[in-house]
Amino acid sequence: MTAPWWQSGVIYQIYPRSFQDGNGDGMGDLRGIGQRLDYLAGLGIDAIWISPIYPSPMVDFGYDVADYCDIDPRFGALADFDDLLAQAHARGIKILLDFVPNHTSDRHPWFVESRSSHDNPKRDWYLWRDAAPDGGPPNNWVSDFGGSAWEWDEATGQYYYHAFLKQQPDLNWRSPAVQAAMYDVMRFWFDRGVDGFRIDVLWHLIKAGSFPDNPPNPAYHPALAEMHRVLQLHSTDQAEVHVIAAEMRAIADGYGAAGRGERVLIGEIYLPVDRLMHYYGRERPEMHLPFNFQLIEAVWEARAMAALIATYEAALPPGGWPNWVLGNHDRPRVATRLGQAQARVAAMLLLTLRGAPTLYYGDELGLSDVPIPPEQLHDPRGLREPGLGLGRDPVRTPMPWDGSAHAGFSTAQSWLPLNADWPTRNVARMMPEPASILRLYHQLLALRRDHPALAVGAFALLESDGDVLAYERREGAQRLIIALNLGGQPQRLALPRDTTGCRLLLSTLAAAPLIENDVLLLRPDEGVILAA
Ligand code: NOJ
Repeated sequence: MTAPWWQSGVIYQIYPRSFQDGNGDGMGDLRGIGQRLDYLAGLGIDAIWISPIYPSPMVDFGYDVADYCDIDPRFGALADFDDLLAQAHARGIKILLDFVPNHTSDRHPWFVESRSSHDNPKRDWYLWRDAAPDGGPPNNWVSDFGGSAWEWDEATGQYYYHAFLKQQPDLNWRSPAVQAAMYDVMRFWFDRGVDGFRIDVLWHLIKAGSFPDNPPNPAYHPALAEMHRVLQLHSTDQAEVHVIAAEMRAIADGYGAAGRGERVLIGEIYLPVDRLMHYYGRERPEMHLPFNFQLIEAVWEARAMAALIATYEAALPPGGWPNWVLGNHDRPRVATRLGQAQARVAAMLLLTLRGAPTLYYGDELGLSDVPIPPEQLHDPRGLREPGLGLGRDPVRTPMPWDGSAHAGFSTAQSWLPLNADWPTRNVARMMPEPASILRLYHQLLALRRDHPALAVGAFALLESDGDVLAYERREGAQRLIIALNLGGQPQRLALPRDTTGCRLLLSTLAAAPLIENDVLLLRPDEGVILAA
């Protein structure tokens, strides 16, 4: 039996404002993505996930949706989307959209109606509450972007809840009408042919019905974002969210048999592993892939990493397929977190662990966080809580394609600055360089395609010392050994007894590593894949 595409496949996240500008306004768009599909096909990825492209005031850069069933003119029109989908499918590339069900924009017609009066039929589509007896907010919940999560509405004399910005009011997912409307949104895009969704902040959808105060967080200190003042015990991850996740899955599954195969749901969920696992579904299936963000936050140390992987693997429910993420549009880039040398090792880790990997655009070039001058900052998260390193602009900068003006990204000044090293760190320059990280990504993706052991095989950790993380992948007679030196000192790995005569498939460094008397000598910052 062959594995479904979302198990063996590799997902590539596109931040659409920054991938490719197709109309010369300094901002990426759908036509631009279409122009780069050959690059993506050549890279060897299977699906792209595009961050939100719906009409939006862009206060949170598209995560404030004003119409779920259209395309923002900055990115194009529905016809451009249909065109992109057809072009992608013609190349065997799937398209996943970003579904943002927890909140709308405050300009969404639903919210405009809801806030118009107490007796508007859409009043209960959002979370309206009376003031506390002292006139203050109904409880102590803190917005993820700082400040109270409640906004006073003078006209109707009540507060509304917003887990993010006040321009992003939370929908009331306990309302059957909201559920029906949002499930229709999913159908709208599935009917158009999209291959699935990444679901924004899925664990936020349902809040405790009585809105009790959240407990204070004893670990809070002022160097942390204000949201960490309290533990989000009552405002997130409520049992009833699983009924909704299962409904979403049933809708996706309803499209599976028809046409080109299964539609996939990926949940954005930042929770500890034990709670994360519930989102695979217990009584009924929920997410195909609840995002596993542990590599983004991991301590880069072999023993800790081995424990993290083993714990995650062991926690998976029967049939639950693992997944791994190294970076996204909200977190510092891997090259900044670990440095260029270890970014290569991290690429090998991401693409050889068991499970579906998600790549973040630009990481294949070793792009780092780009320092943004104060006058060019855009991200509300960073602007609202300055000085804490929370701003996300540095990880959302334009993709550098070549050495021409504006790095081939646009014919105009780009909305965010390019990486300072773009004249050398760009696709055209790195593609022919055998030692570039881009070529390493190409090689890793090709190996995954050619070796079922990597794409779908079994996983087992190997005994190792010091800075070495070692494991094997097996499928049928195919057995691969992956050894990663997570540090800057040479390391030794005693190879398993029955692997004499191992053949090198790939090293992150030029030239082959040494194997002497069944001991693999790893150079600093080297990762290798051996065929046993
Ligand atoms: C998570 C998204 O990844 C982030 O970019 C956004 O700001 C929040 N959800 C709110 O939608």
